[in-house]
Amino acid sequence: MSMIGRCPGCGEWGTMEEEITAQRSLSGAAVPVKSAVPISGLEAEEQERVSSGIEELDRVLGGGWVMGGVTLLGGEPGVGKSTLLLQVCAEMAKRGSRVLYISGEESSGQLALRGRRLGLMTQGLDLLCESDLQSSLAAAEEHKYGFVVIDSVQAFRADSESGWAGSPSQVKAVALMAAETAKRCGIPMVLVGHITKQGQIAGPKLLEHMVDTVLLFSGEQNSPNRLLRAEKNRYGSTEELGIFEMSERGLAAVSDPSRLYWNGTDLGSSGVAVAAVLEGSRVLAAEIQALACATPFPYPKRTARGIDVSRLQLLLAVLERRCGISSRSNDIYLNVAGGLSLKDPAADLGICASLASAATDIELPSDVCFIGEVGLAGEVRPAGRTAMRVKEAARLGFKRVVISRRTPKESYPIEVLRISALKEILDLFLRR
Ligand code: TYD
Ligand code: MG
Repeated sequence: MSMIGRCPGCGEWGTMEEEITAQRSLSGAAVPVKSAVPISGLEAEEQERVSSGIEELDRVLGGGWVMGGVTLLGGEPGVGKSTLLLQVCAEMAKRGSRVLYISGEESSGQLALRGRRLGLMTQGLDLLCESDLQSSLAAAEEHKYGFVVIDSVQAFRADSESGWAGSPSQVKAVALMAAETAKRCGIPMVLVGHITKQGQIAGPKLLEHMVDTVLLFSGEQNSPNRLLRAEKNRYGSTEELGIFEMSERGLAAVSDPSRLYWNGTDLGSSGVAVAAVLEGSRVLAAEIQALACATPFPYPKRTARGIDVSRLQLLLAVLERRCGISSRSNDIYLNVAGGLSLKDPAADLGICASLASAATDIELPSDVCFIGEVGLAGEVRPAGRTAMRVKEAARLGFKRVVISRRTPKESYPIEVLRISALKEILDLFLRR
């Protein structure tokens, strides 16, 4: 039950009266005994959706915002959450939705400046700069907005709870109140939540179970690339990846994402290998760089950026035991270019090729792309959707791909080198 002292319409105090709506009287009635129904007797209903106006975002969401659904957009401060949402709001307003952007962080002057710079001065997009949640939500409900953004959950206070804005109990109360409003009005609502570098998620982790969708927006400090992923999605897959580029004109979709993490330059140095990895339904060429450097210390360093250190250690152990490439007296540094984070197991072969090339100090040919999983026995296993990966490698200009011998035979557009064991890459590429 919400009580507000000030009318958000006329701004007068003490003029609001509580009105008992049909919904409230229902919830106050005696509890009826419910009867369960067999699942086979139910009709599956498609979620009603509205496009966010931004294709990359729609794909990550699974086809747009769901009516009545609450989405949490998490990300580090400065990554571009407000920019993305202001662009979304303007696009939706252009398509005829009435949109409300409630900011507890920026003044309307600041928002207008950003809006003007990005060319977002659109009819149908209203701004409300407030930090009192109840009155802001009341405004959203009263004026029947079709889409509402709350930026951010950490900046608002709910009167029902004690504590500072941004404290766990406040953040929860704010999200709960917003979610109730979204469900009641049947409109999509987005909450912004800041997360910190240490992964200490003041907002998002606490709220995961309270919202329908959790999106994470991320990027490296010195790179304009921004990645959008769904961590949780009640209405779609969590596989898809949205890729944006931040410029002075705001965020734009990256037109050729497979080139994003591999610029095609041939440095001619050892330790560089390219893997065709799958991100959602897209293939990206990932450039993996390894450096092996002799150390006098008994415990050599293993440093990795873009893959798990434990995965690096495992692959080094496989290289030592199955291929005879020892890194015991070397520090190993491994880096995935462009700030990409490799989760796809099919990147193993590329990582191993890069490590073997670094250890032997022999460069790999630049026209080869690697696709395959590597097992503890040193065997190379087929990667999912190999045909799609090979096709993309061909489009990017690679002349050869190395894949598992066990990959089903198909006709490929470029030469495929089929191997069963990791050590075969030594004979293929790393002998002087
Ligand atoms: P912002 O959307 O305010 O981040 P968040 O809401 O996640 O904290 O974006 C802030 C950064 O983005 C800021 O450092 C400047 C940069 N930026 C651009 O590079 N281009 C732009 O057009 C805009 C609006 C911001
Ligand atoms: Mg912001």
